[in-house]
Amino acid sequence: MTVWRRQPKVELHLHLEGAAPPDFIRALAAEQGTDLVGVFDEAGAYAWTDFADFLKVYEAASSVLRAADDYRRLVEAVLAKSAADGVIYTEIFLAPDLRRDDDTAAWRDHLAAMTEGARNARAAHGIEARFIPIAIRHLGPERAEATARLTAETAGGLVTGFGMAGEEGFGEPADYARAFAIAAEAGLGLTVHAGELLGAESVRAALDALPVSRIGHGVRAIEDPDLVRRLAAEGIVLEVNPGSNLALGLFPSWRDHPIEPLRAAGVAVTISTDDPPYFHTDLPREYAALAWTFDWTAADFDGMNRAAAAAAFCDEATRAAILARLTGETP
Ligand code: ADE
Ligand code: ZN
Repeated sequence: MTVWRRQPKVELHLHLEGAAPPDFIRALAAEQGTDLVGVFDEAGAYAWTDFADFLKVYEAASSVLRAADDYRRLVEAVLAKSAADGVIYTEIFLAPDLRRDDDTAAWRDHLAAMTEGARNARAAHGIEARFIPIAIRHLGPERAEATARLTAETAGGLVTGFGMAGEEGFGEPADYARAFAIAAEAGLGLTVHAGELLGAESVRAALDALPVSRIGHGVRAIEDPDLVRRLAAEGIVLEVNPGSNLALGLFPSWRDHPIEPLRAAGVAVTISTDDPPYFHTDLPREYAALAWTFDWTAADFDGMNRAAAAAAFCDEATRAAILARLTGETP
């Protein structure tokens, strides 16, 4: 338990399926009589070796999430944990494609259940949540466009954004321009994963092709000083997940993580956890490691939380309420 648990936090980058506690997935698998071979290690944690294997294990574990009520319970469990870690506002990525289900009516049922879960969590813990459905890049542009249409049809309520994750090397960002145009037309906030497994060029290509205000990760922009200057000048917000990056081997140590030089160069960096149980992390642990490594104080983190609130895909009244709850007090 770290002192960083108490500081109010804003998290912009958290995958619902990736935040599922292993026990939650194991219990559902047992109920269904599903044998999740190769998903867990002997200690019961998620077991994966590299990024490709991570995606495989992730999809296998997610396959036991089926009924609408599974999703309600998962949203409640994830938000209870976030609230306990000091999060006051969070944006959760949802992947309709992991359900292998094109049916808009079924998705509406699931969304209604997840919305109920979020409302229950708000009542119980005071945490505010928004949903960002995402396309999965390696399923291709047509699938992404279908997901964007589904998201546009279900926009409003807690659905306020659209994004894309998955295999960064699959196709070019421009292949997904139509999907993002559909979401933009619906008034959704836009973010895309880039500059995680691939280098600075992937961030530049994403910014050139897609009308996003935020980049998921984007940390490998550090390889190109011109691009770093562009991020700062255009006010592009990075959803940085340091523990995830270290677990996936992007950088050898906390000291080598580029979040500090990016910040020093004037880039708006924010801190999130991506898929916390997969990477053995949570937000207080991220804060503790960053504070230790870079001598960051509560006031530094408060500045990043304010940047996150400014970049949040929410209405202005909600943004003002979040800002009012942020404090830079030392825990
Ligand atoms: N889906 C879930 N986590 C992801 C990550 N870190 N990168 C790309 N796709 C993901
Ligand atoms: Zn992610």
